[in-house]
Amino acid sequence: MAQRLASRCVHRVCEGLWMSGGTGQRWMTWCAATQQALYADGGFYRRGTGPVDHFRTSVHESPGFAEALLTLARAADLDVVVDLGSGRGELLRTLHALDPTLRLVGVELADRPDDLPDVIGWSSSLPSDLDALVVANEWLDNVPVDIARRAGDDVRLLVVDPTSGAEAPGAPVTGRDLDWLDLWWPLPDGGRAEIGHPRDDAWAATVGSIRRGIAVAADYEHRLAERPFAGSLAGYLAGRQVPPVPDGSCDITSHVALDSCAAAGMRAGATWTVHTTQRQALQALGAGRPKPSYDDARRDPAAYLAALSRASADAELTRRGGLGDFGWLVQGRGAPRPRLLDQLP
Ligand SMILES: C[S@@+](CC[C@H](N)C(=O)[O-])C[C@H]1O[C@@H](n2cnc3c(N)ncnc32)[C@H](O)[C@@H]1O
Repeated sequence: MAQRLASRCVHRVCEGLWMSGGTGQRWMTWCAATQQALYADGGFYRRGTGPVDHFRTSVHESPGFAEALLTLARAADLDVVVDLGSGRGELLRTLHALDPTLRLVGVELADRPDDLPDVIGWSSSLPSDLDALVVANEWLDNVPVDIARRAGDDVRLLVVDPTSGAEAPGAPVTGRDLDWLDLWWPLPDGGRAEIGHPRDDAWAATVGSIRRGIAVAADYEHRLAERPFAGSLAGYLAGRQVPPVPDGSCDITSHVALDSCAAAGMRAGATWTVHTTQRQALQALGAGRPKPSYDDARRDPAAYLAALSRASADAELTRRGGLGDFGWLVQGRGAPRPRLLDQLP
């Protein structure tokens, strides 16, 4: 059995696509516009060679990331790794090279890459009843969400013209959207917020897919005490930040309220949670090769240079002001918390 993950727009108004009086603009909710821009046929994530064309994630930065996940899988006695939002299978290829006995599955909306080794599975749906380590690196930030803005007592969804990125106030925020904001992102006057419950649902489905195992989300995050006043919506194209125009030309992303995802994961059956930074998580998992010594350089210059390059790539994974500040949400279901994680919050 497989279940489709909740990255579809869940709002009644998201289905609305209408013309405004005389301007010729089409207005959509941000959730619907993002869904279309990223995941429709020919959308940003469905075409080309994939995310690596536009940005480097931890997966591309260093094999140290895969090594740390392998350490976690082994510590929990898991020999299946599912990579959720697997791009073009980069993490899976590295894991396969590190340990060919692992059973590996990519879950991805884009097509299976032609050159992916046959032993690696590929699916557009998350399997259920997994005994596995499920990894979601930079996935939740791409689960589409709506955006709200407060002006005095008036809290409204913003609608967007997908061709220009122009915004206008839409319907008043009600129901589950309002409940989520009240609990997880109380909006100050003039503030705007990404409404995160579709990500809670996506994460709950991830945890719910596990019978015995661990789910890891690594992503840009913010927490309740420090939500950004103006939200965090951004566009990325070819390595640069660009205006977030949801026309399919660029990535549309926003930081993740991993604390609300953690609560959703517990409701979905997780029995323990670690919520920390990537820096702390990777240190606990023993990632990071030391810099080689100058003696090594004299003995074997080529090996020295290779070791130096690997040590700097590892250092990028934990760098302050960079990937090291990412949030790691680790939740277990049906599996004890590995001792390696004992010192983490
Ligand atoms: C930012 S990329 C990250 C890729 C990879 N994890 C990495 O770290 O390089 C997010 C990926 O998630 C995929 N994705 C988004 N929603 C998905 C869903 N519901 N099911 C499967 N894949 C999804 C996108 O197609 C995209 O390849």
